[in-house]
Amino acid sequence: MTPASSSNESEAASQLLYERLVLWAKEYWEGHYPDQSFVPLWATIECANRVAHHQVRPGRRLKGKSKFVGMEAMDCPVVVPISDFGTRGNQMVLTSGAGAYLFHFRDDIGREYDVVYACTYLGDNSRDLIAIALVPEERLESWASFELMCMRVVRPPIRRRRDVYIVGGSETFFEPAVDWEDVILPDALKSTLLDDMEAFFTRGVGIYRELKLPPFRKLLLAGIPGTGKTMLCAAMAKLAIDRKRVVVYVSGSDRDGASFEKIQRALMAVSAAKFPVLLIVEELDAYLQGDDKARILNVLDGIESPNNPRGALLLATTNYPEAIDERIAKRPGRLDRIFIVPPIQDEVQAEKMLKHYMGDHWSQDHSTVVPYLVNQPGAFVREVALHARMLAAHAHQTVVTPYMLNESVTSLLRQINSESDFLKQRKPISLSAAKVRDTNPFGWGT
Ligand SMILES: Nc1ncnc2c1ncn2[C@@H]1O[C@H](COP(=O)(O)OP(=O)(O)OP(=O)(O)O)[C@@H](O)[C@H]1O
Ligand SMILES: [Mg+2]
Repeated sequence: MTPASSSNESEAASQLLYERLVLWAKEYWEGHYPDQSFVPLWATIECANRVAHHQVRPGRRLKGKSKFVGMEAMDCPVVVPISDFGTRGNQMVLTSGAGAYLFHFRDDIGREYDVVYACTYLGDNSRDLIAIALVPEERLESWASFELMCMRVVRPPIRRRRDVYIVGGSETFFEPAVDWEDVILPDALKSTLLDDMEAFFTRGVGIYRELKLPPFRKLLLAGIPGTGKTMLCAAMAKLAIDRKRVVVYVSGSDRDGASFEKIQRALMAVSAAKFPVLLIVEELDAYLQGDDKARILNVLDGIESPNNPRGALLLATTNYPEAIDERIAKRPGRLDRIFIVPPIQDEVQAEKMLKHYMGDHWSQDHSTVVPYLVNQPGAFVREVALHARMLAAHAHQTVVTPYMLNESVTSLLRQINSESDFLKQRKPISLSAAKVRDTNPFGWGT
């Protein structure tokens, strides 16, 4: 190896992957369009998807008075082209993958322009792709419309019956497999929530239609982390599917984060479904940031609501009711009901939860730890039980002793307390939940 090549290599290693992609694209750009300025962008990975290459044909018109006229693969030293594959209908097709491409466009007065695009895997251990594009700044609108076109063909909205449609992430993000009985929460909360959904789909939809309103009801589950909001959504989804409804689930936890574009795609799916829809949006507060905020409020206000004549019920979750509180308080009707999903409220519920997670290992003398579980979220009890069972396993014992359970509670509490000393934590959520309740002008459910 020559000294020059080794220094090039170490330089490349110290750069972030996206920097290497952008630098390569920039060099190409400057060599080919020296007089044209560009803007480097994070781009959608769907423009590298072979399904999009197959279906978005030259000649397609785009917003911004342009047309897509064709594309070619490029050699890029940072990207080794590779494609995934899978079935679509009964056909085997090439799907997502890494690659670099030059996309050609023409505007209405015949001026041609290109976009340099590269998409590759984030790292050795990652199945996540990232993509960048160099786009002439005045062509952003057309590029955005091209990206949207690629995304739509890769992840089409619901046309046929399909039970669960996930926006942002894969099927593993959300599994509607939780049994209603396994969600341990106050009975009144569970039954009010379920009654609300049933009343809406059975009678409510007709009432909205009579009033010439799109049948769209909006519920929010608010509570501190780990109280079972996601679990409750999954259990509601399971019931909805059993009752022949479609579930659309929006996740902000993939690479694309919480963007309004996802909500838009979900709303398209809701409108296209020929069935009543349960629309689940987790961490609604994350979408109430920056420019997207006004658009989300439009959705809640009914201006950009989905129009599904069979009815759509939004079930949103949040840890930060205060982020949502202010905006809904100003305008009744943005959210129809807020349900506080509380931590464990009393010893009866605590014992029920502990029994559930101890399973066959439960014995009555475990109830000595029960008082310490009150006011903790369900996730805490699950961890306590898991840890105690691990302690028994390490000690090669089949029985979990009260001592082990006690030890598990103490060590978990110690860990949480030391974390909260270390991290400057936000104020306890039970206070925020109380705040929501206090300022609740519409009699929200709890
Ligand atoms: N009410 C509950 N009943 C039974 N199990 C629970 C309950 N709450 C939490 N758990 C357990 O804790 C895990 C985490 O709960 P979950 O993800 O539903 O909490 P969350 O409220 O959505 O939290 P976050 O606000 O952080 O998203 C669940 O998968 C379950 O094992
Ligand atoms: Mg959750």
